[in-house]
Amino acid sequence: MTFMKGMESSARYFDEVAGEWDTLRKGYFRDEVREKAAELAGVRQGERAADIGAGTGFLTEALLGRGLEVVAVDRSPAMLAELERKFGGRPAFRGLSGETEALPIETGTIDCSFANMVLHHVESPEAMIREFFRILKPGGRAVLTDFERHGFAFFLTEYHDRWPGFHPGDVEAWFRAAGFASVEEGPLGEICQAESSEGVRAMVPIFFVRAER
Ligand SMILES: C[S@@+](CC[C@H](N)C(=O)[O-])C[C@H]1O[C@@H](n2cnc3c(N)ncnc32)[C@H](O)[C@@H]1O
Repeated sequence: MTFMKGMESSARYFDEVAGEWDTLRKGYFRDEVREKAAELAGVRQGERAADIGAGTGFLTEALLGRGLEVVAVDRSPAMLAELERKFGGRPAFRGLSGETEALPIETGTIDCSFANMVLHHVESPEAMIREFFRILKPGGRAVLTDFERHGFAFFLTEYHDRWPGFHPGDVEAWFRAAGFASVEEGPLGEICQAESSEGVRAMVPIFFVRAER
């Protein structure tokens, strides 16, 4: 990822990089991340999934490929344009503009909700997790993947991250507080890697939280 000096916000940052996100993303983490997330959720053909903070559709693509309907939500107009370009016109796909903390999805309508590498960007992780809970049907599953707490300051200054990763146990506790009945966290067995403008190389483990409403 290039150092974007003077960028004022994460929102503007993602609008700027939307056209190259697929290429950038491949340098940060492997395709296996989405396959493992789908497996953890136990997705089934015909189910209705939500991809929150969908970006250019890393997860959306895998879920459509497994025969699910997908509602993809993002706040970046440029990311939404990329989603439309890639998946628009497919009956199983719907892209929506919205915020993680007030999702444009009706209560109790989703079988499985996903968010990959989004939590560390949002203002209130707890509010996002409460929305994860609200949109799920009873018995619905949520799988969140993000990176563990780290000490790399350039993630915040150069990539516009809001949070320096998380302790998985804290995120698990937020899921329980949101009302989820069954919650587990663990290492995904994947890493996120990045390099600063000064050549500092970071490798940070990715964790998952899986929960059922
Ligand atoms: C690091 S990207 C991850 C994209 C995708 N999930 C992936 O794995 O490639 C984070 C995405 O979350 C979106 N995002 C960040 N904060 C958001 C918020 N508060 N509401 C909605 N989308 C948000 C950004 O626009 C961006 O597309």
